[in-house]
Amino acid sequence: MARWHTEEYRWGEHSLVAVAESIRTVAAPLYGGEAAAGLAEQVRTAASRGAEVLLDGGRVVGVGLYSRDGEAGRIDFMHVLPGHLSKPAYVMLVGAVVNRLRQRGVSEIVCEGGTLQGAALGDALAQCGFRMYERAILGRPTSEQPPALPAGHAFVPLSGLKREEIAEVVYDAFAGGPDAVFDYHFRSVANARALCDALFAGRHGPYMDEFSTGLQTADGLAGVVFTTVLAPGRGFVLLVAVSPRWRGNRLGEIMMRETIARLGAEGYTRVELAVTVANLPAWHLYRRLGFRVVRFFPVYHARY
Ligand SMILES: CC(C)(COP(=O)(O)OP(=O)(O)OC[C@H]1O[C@@H](n2cnc3c(N)ncnc32)[C@H](O)[C@@H]1OP(=O)(O)O)[C@@H](O)C(=O)NCCC(=O)NCCS
Repeated sequence: MARWHTEEYRWGEHSLVAVAESIRTVAAPLYGGEAAAGLAEQVRTAASRGAEVLLDGGRVVGVGLYSRDGEAGRIDFMHVLPGHLSKPAYVMLVGAVVNRLRQRGVSEIVCEGGTLQGAALGDALAQCGFRMYERAILGRPTSEQPPALPAGHAFVPLSGLKREEIAEVVYDAFAGGPDAVFDYHFRSVANARALCDALFAGRHGPYMDEFSTGLQTADGLAGVVFTTVLAPGRGFVLLVAVSPRWRGNRLGEIMMRETIARLGAEGYTRVELAVTVANLPAWHLYRRLGFRVVRFFPVYHARY
């Protein structure tokens, strides 16, 4: 029976070689050899920015990476060697990461994906008080047919708008919705502003002005869309929002169709996005636009 304990990762003292090798082995059949080697290396280098290690005697048998994102903590990645893979091992690692993040003053913790060992991580997070929210990646082919714009409406590049104005639309659109439960960015205008700054800075994929637009009406800014490219030939819509007072007028549809057409005109063949399954207006809109489920994934969230 293993006698595990956890410690904060210290470079030079703890060896992640065995864990990285295991990540590479588990990931290779899923993503291919090169991507698996990249993931293993990424985990090894990320450890210096915040990690707990699970030890059996002096040997590292698991690693949990975490980071801080404003007010929230994030569990970024976890892995336990196959011989130790079990709920108790994961509970110990999750508990150590949660304690470390809470010592740093976070009031909530999010874990999105974050492992190759989903069942073990999910069980451990549930035991540690996290709630699960189901999300999905949806996708469809692009087209080159832009939608007709209602009179008095115009698309403007987001870079030409005041960040505060964009943040207000984002906050108004998401406030009180299902995403605001696990993502603090949607709980104040200041937080929405921080998210917009991160999107412009390329922290969620390169900012692309040609695919990131605001829908301007005579009465003000009705909606915004941020789009990036995460894989060759494939656009990814990071955020779409229509201010509540303009809802239900098909402006969400028009912004999506415009984005899909712009991507198609630039030679991108596919467009994808992530959506929370409980977000019924968004889900309905994307399904109506012909998006299909690529895969489902869980987001776990705990508040303190
Ligand atoms: C999703 C969003 C952009 C849609 O904007 P919109 O301008 O109202 O979009 P549209 O009018 O083109 O389409 C909305 C559709 O959802 C439907 N809808 C609205 N509320 C709904 C509900 N509770 N359940 C099911 N469908 C609903 C509308 O009836 C409409 O469909 P229809 O035209 O077939 O009747 C807008 O609701 C929004 O900003 N939401 C908050 C931010 C958000 O969740 N963004 C997406 C994150 S992935």
